[in-house]
Amino acid sequence: MQEKSKFHLLSSKEHVRIPFEMTGKFQIANSKFQHIIRSMNADKNTPKWLDEGLQNIWLPYAQMQTAPTPLPVSHTSGTKIILDDGRELIDGISSWWSACHGYNHPHIISEMEKQLKIMPHVMFAGLAHKPAYHLANRLAKITPEGLNHVFFSDSGSVAVEVAMKMAAQYWHNKGDHKRNRFICFKNGYHGDTMGAMSLADPDDGMHKAFTKYMPKQYVMEIPTGEYSLAEFEELLEGISKTTAALIIEPLVQGAGGLKFYSADILAEIRRLCAKYEILFIADEIATGFMRTGSMFACDEAGITPDIMCVGKSLTGGAIGLAATIATDKVFDAFLSDNLENALMHGPTYMANPLACAAANASLDLFEREDYISKIEAIENQLREGLAPCKSLENVADVRVKGAIGVVQLKNADWGYMFELREKFITKGVWLRPFGDIIYIMPAFTIENEDLSKLTSTICKILK
Ligand SMILES: Cc1ncc(COP(=O)(O)O)c(C=O)c1O
Repeated sequence: MQEKSKFHLLSSKEHVRIPFEMTGKFQIANSKFQHIIRSMNADKNTPKWLDEGLQNIWLPYAQMQTAPTPLPVSHTSGTKIILDDGRELIDGISSWWSACHGYNHPHIISEMEKQLKIMPHVMFAGLAHKPAYHLANRLAKITPEGLNHVFFSDSGSVAVEVAMKMAAQYWHNKGDHKRNRFICFKNGYHGDTMGAMSLADPDDGMHKAFTKYMPKQYVMEIPTGEYSLAEFEELLEGISKTTAALIIEPLVQGAGGLKFYSADILAEIRRLCAKYEILFIADEIATGFMRTGSMFACDEAGITPDIMCVGKSLTGGAIGLAATIATDKVFDAFLSDNLENALMHGPTYMANPLACAAANASLDLFEREDYISKIEAIENQLREGLAPCKSLENVADVRVKGAIGVVQLKNADWGYMFELREKFITKGVWLRPFGDIIYIMPAFTIENEDLSKLTSTICKILK
């Protein structure tokens, strides 16, 4: 407990408190709002498969007693989601920030189709296939200098678990058995598996039920503003001998509220980790592949992490795949005559050839397309389009970074955010406000008019 009060530097007063629990990815309905949920569902002509399937489906982040019926989707195309009843929604959030080239990109589909016919899957232990080996070469080339060793997995959360195992075992293999904790950050989010959950902001509530099962970590604040780097360094030094690694979402904390911080601060945190021999893990699952404007957010800070996690946009949002990429320094600590020093991890579907084919196709597109200019244009358009929100009474902040636009509200509650979502749908846009923010993370291929419609709809509805 003592430790917790020292390193748990969170103040719940700083948050807009809301009478429910909700992040970018989850929502747990409070019974107070049941009427809203029911009204959303009223008069919906749901297709038979949805009605029947609902009896057997368990939805993500949903209180199944009160959760609204999800919108039935017929198909996707470009940056549009087409509903079963024919309505088209402009997708403002690219399926949890993954479909960066838009849906059904012809190049990705064609490469996946080719791979599907040859070999949709084969196990990765003892057998090798070109899509994964080629992808590993390519990832080593495009990630920050020195990240050379790619371990594939099937989701972002698992990539984070693998990073944690790499970091913990790195010290174990070196004979240091004291460094078994992780430093993570207030407003941080790294996934929903047990280890990844232990790295989340403990204030966020989503993981309360598991506190007793999860390892205790050091939770710190990103040293911006009043919170000085000197104070951060002092804390870091004090816990360095019991810390395996620090994990951070570079430049943008995603599901914890889309909070931005500077590349200078990121570079400084990286420098301090090197100084106190703490491994530095960059979780680029949300920021990677140009979301913040550079290929990886770490590039803007000019840093190489010891370990980097990627996922989401790795396949252009077509299929699940993630990777944990390590430097020689980390990799070499696993080399020995003893099997016990090896990384004991191997998901059944790791390096799935179909997913690797999609990822290779996605990388082709990053090579081919001029996304730098496209993202600059999106950034300018988001800035301009969301600017009118700044003067609105209930708006606390409007911020834009790369292809991310955020409007943060002063007062927000679950019911209101839910009503907003419903209003957006009636205007033909798919946005999922959460906590106290409304955000846009479009595909890089979005047309100007569609992006304008997203920004103007937010401004109009907030008026
Ligand atoms: C920064 C970050 N890390 C990890 C994850 C977990 O990824 P997945 O949902 O693929 O398990 C997410 C998902 O939103 C994320 O934003």
